[in-house]
Amino acid sequence: MARDGVVLEVDAVSKSFGALAALSKVSLAVRAGQIFSVIGPNGAGKSTLFNVVSGLHVPTAGRVRFRGQEITGLAPETINRLGVAKTFQITNIFPQISVFENVRVAAQSRAHESGRLSSLWRLPDVEAGAADLLRAFGLLPKRDELAENLSHGEQRYLEICLALATEPTLVLLDEPTAGMTPRETREATALIRQIASARGLTVLLIEHDMSVVMGISDRIAVLHFGEKIAEGAPEQIRNDPKVVEAYLGPPED
Ligand SMILES: Nc1ncnc2c1ncn2[C@@H]1O[C@H](COP(=O)(O)OP(=O)(O)OP(=O)(O)O)[C@@H](O)[C@H]1O
Ligand SMILES: [Mg+2]
Repeated sequence: MARDGVVLEVDAVSKSFGALAALSKVSLAVRAGQIFSVIGPNGAGKSTLFNVVSGLHVPTAGRVRFRGQEITGLAPETINRLGVAKTFQITNIFPQISVFENVRVAAQSRAHESGRLSSLWRLPDVEAGAADLLRAFGLLPKRDELAENLSHGEQRYLEICLALATEPTLVLLDEPTAGMTPRETREATALIRQIASARGLTVLLIEHDMSVVMGISDRIAVLHFGEKIAEGAPEQIRNDPKVVEAYLGPPED
């Protein structure tokens, strides 16, 4: 484990797309077991930050360390194998196979990659793990449905199951409640907290819904035009004038 229990360290990361600075010298440290949220207006650089951490984008400058190991510029598969899983802003499941098969395939791919399929992670374990996850998200009764027949909210739950099936240390959730009903949003928030604490997971979360963010986060970083303008506990962020201005200032579209 890295020093001071820091699982993820983003150190002065910048990412430009041509002339556009999507991220400018962003630093943050996420500790083991924390739910750390990244918020900010549209286009602030939140998804870009996730893409840099998960290896989809190579940063223009700066470094990313996971459990003390530098992962800057490593391939997404390699970073995933080290224990970082990510969900996407847009739902990313296999629509034409069953709910159970979705999770089993995800779990098995991880077991296979890490060479555990023949030893520790036998098929019955994979299946039991998949069933546990579906049960936790209330999806077990729908295990044999085609994934495409689930409601939007259930599909988003399934996607979180797919990320967790790889047994990550750190999970990156990009707007997991997007498109959910208010009720699903409340349930999802409680579930994410509960599962993170039961599994000792560290969570980096992007979320637009302020009530979710304030209720779930141990710590919050605020991005605005690619820069981190504030970081702190929920109460600090709620009362930070810079944050209020970023959200309530003149529309930037
Ligand atoms: N692959 C890319 N190529 C060019 N520009 C990009 C690319 N990805 C993101 N951008 C730009 O970088 C900026 C930050 O985008 P990003 O998707 O990180 O924002 P975001 O905070 O996730 O926004 P949203 O809340 O709308 O999801 C935007 O101006 C976006 O248009
Ligand atoms: Mg985004």
